Amino acid sequence: MGVLRQPVSLQVQLARKWIKAASRIVGFTGAGISTESGVSDFRSPNGVWARNRTVYFQEFINNEEDRIEAWRQKVESWPEMRDAKPNSGHMALVELYLADKLSAMITQNIERLHQRSGIPSEIVFELHGTTTEAMCLTCGDRIDMKEAVARVEGGEKAPLCRKCGGLLKPATVSFGQPMPERVVLAAQQAAESCDLFLAVGSSLVVQPAASLPVIAKNAGAKLIIVNREETPVDSAADLVLHGEIGDILPVMAGMTSAG
Ligand code: APR
Repeated sequence: MGVLRQPVSLQVQLARKWIKAASRIVGFTGAGISTESGVSDFRSPNGVWARNRTVYFQEFINNEEDRIEAWRQKVESWPEMRDAKPNSGHMALVELYLADKLSAMITQNIERLHQRSGIPSEIVFELHGTTTEAMCLTCGDRIDMKEAVARVEGGEKAPLCRKCGGLLKPATVSFGQPMPERVVLAAQQAAESCDLFLAVGSSLVVQPAASLPVIAKNAGAKLIIVNREETPVDSAADLVLHGEIGDILPVMAGMTSAG
């Protein structure tokens, strides 16, 4: 079926129908679902990459000044991540979970708002890790980001592991850093076995995450994309809804409202 270009309200009705008929929905989110919780996304005009340079994984490992810059960025963004609360978009996905329809929650997001909204961490697959912890690149020990931020603010500009002296890094996946294999595999398996793939709030430009909607589609699932702007995957979708997630998703997933 070609991409349906209809008024959003008709599209929302169609999406509701598909959601009601589905039993194994995979949710897939990007930073766009968290902007209404006060968390910046990456590629909107005032996004993270408009204000910060990217520190690549190899740079983090090789250069102390790059580690200091990476930690500076983390400390700067920490308050909005720490204080963010789930918004109506997150809660719409919880409705799917409570209706026993959500088989997996794949996210590129790092602030754990899906877990905080009530989706069990067992079915949340964090492709790009989490900013809520820091981990040692040598021994793997993890500490809460709260502690790591306090240490940086206390003068340890690029903190080291207190267990083994290794480099401490925010537990997010940086560009050039291998993604957690187990998580990527589980996400691929979920995409291959779902009947509806709901991609929400992602520009769908970063691989391999952006290939998951296509994997689901090729495996026979219906693909719905909800995003403010066009994405390179829109042409593969069965339904594309351009608009604010907070307006669209609750109506789409609202199992309670009639019709
Ligand atoms: N409603 C709908 N769409 C929104 C909203 C909103 N309230 N807020 C933002 N968006 C859209 C933006 O228009 C944009 O297309 O969400 C999308 C977010 O895209 P990105 O900022 O590129 O974020 P994301 O897709 O998650 O980036 C993927 O890139 O830098 C890496 O690791 C980082 O996980 C991230 C990855």
